[in-house]
Amino acid sequence: MKIMIVVGARPNFMKAAPVVFAIADHNARVAASPNLPRTESPQPIEMVLVHTGQHYDEAMSGSFFTDLGLPTPDVHLEVGSGSHAAQTAEIMRRFEAVVLEQKPDVVMVFGDVNSTVACALVTSKIVLDSNGNRPLIAHVEAGLRSFDRAMPEEINRVITDHLSDLLFVTEESGKENLCREGIKPEKIHFVGNTMIDSLLASEEKAEKSVILDQFGLRGGSNGLVRRYALLTLHRPSNVDDRETFLSILEGLDELAGSCPILFSAHPRTRKRIAEFGLERFFQPETQQSESEQSGNENGIRLLDPLGYLDFLCLTKHAALVVTDSGGIQEETTCLRVPCVTVRENTERPVTVTCGTNVIAGTESQNIRRAVKEQLSGKKQGRVPEKWDGRAAGRIVEVIAREFQIGSSLPDSQIASLAASQ
Ligand code: UD1
Ligand code: UDP
Repeated sequence: MKIMIVVGARPNFMKAAPVVFAIADHNARVAASPNLPRTESPQPIEMVLVHTGQHYDEAMSGSFFTDLGLPTPDVHLEVGSGSHAAQTAEIMRRFEAVVLEQKPDVVMVFGDVNSTVACALVTSKIVLDSNGNRPLIAHVEAGLRSFDRAMPEEINRVITDHLSDLLFVTEESGKENLCREGIKPEKIHFVGNTMIDSLLASEEKAEKSVILDQFGLRGGSNGLVRRYALLTLHRPSNVDDRETFLSILEGLDELAGSCPILFSAHPRTRKRIAEFGLERFFQPETQQSESEQSGNENGIRLLDPLGYLDFLCLTKHAALVVTDSGGIQEETTCLRVPCVTVRENTERPVTVTCGTNVIAGTESQNIRRAVKEQLSGKKQGRVPEKWDGRAAGRIVEVIAREFQIGSSLPDSQIASLAASQ
């Protein structure tokens, strides 16, 4: 059987990598298994990795392949940026030809970006043979809902889920949302979180990052890490609207006065800072390089997007993370680092009910209050169910069952995965 894995934008890479490795592990076990009759032995899974090219800068795409150890994509669609309609349409146009040529049994999409919905939509209408067959659509990170249709990602989530045949959910709320929307329970599989698989697999490597030293944050003879906060912002509702962007930056003024804030700025955000004339909120470039050496300047340091391992290292050691990212809410929960989410809602409620996340909104005084509350260390949080590094293994087992290609795992491991499903 053949599976096509589709990635396109930054948050796809760390969600897809563990599935790529779990398929490779399955194939390695198949190759090493004794020569049984075909009906009894597990079958290999052929994999085709497709990159749509939605993100294309080295810092938004290439570096993640290196950091995560992902193979070079078999197919690169090179779509680049555009309006929602233009980008989605171009991905669809180019992806259709690839599916017709490759004829996969499964197309697997991740998360909620334009590449996700575009490729699911193409697959849902494609006809591969005279019986009208098409590949199955598998959606990893299904069922999340912010209930905010002004968010482009919410539209992508709802449409992708309703087109999908296999829906892999990361948290209980995903199951509940899908059932409420009338999706048959037998299509839904609560497998855990592949983004957390990547995090757990990369933690040791991230510890070796020199990023803390580079920013002068690990200092003195005792080598202790200095207190700092980490910031990311890229939601259009936050950074494309000057008033909202301003309100968030003003809400961080007290924090910026008390410690350095490292701000990894998405290309969208960078553009808006220049366009809206918001440079005064950040340390001037010259001062930045001095403070990189001394590590004792408070204020916001504006940075280019960081590599996965460097960013993971900075997240793990931060006193606080302030973000509007989806995935970072989950990573901070897993690492038990306090997180303030500057949005009015979250599609990942388990990070609030179980984890270390608080939803602050975008008004300055609410952000200040949330920052204070989180720095007081009241919210300890715990790691959500099945965020244990084994989500991708569960996904491959579901697919092996679905296609009756046989599990390559020893019986004891199948039993342990099944018990946790
Ligand atoms: C996309 C996703 C969003 C996700 C984010 C992760 C959609 C609808 N949105 O938003 O869910 O959280 O990625 O980072 O799919 N740009 C570059 N270099 C790049 C990529 C983009 O300069 O490599 C610039 C371009 O000017 C582009 C803008 O960033 O127009 C926005 O990129 P786009 O992919 O359209 O949306 P994101 O804001 O990145
Ligand atoms: N990330 C990174 N470098 C950065 C910012 C984010 O490696 O400078 C990683 C982060 O650790 C997480 C993912 O990118 O794994 C989240 O992607 P993003 O915030 O772009 O998208 P979202 O999750 O909001 O869709």
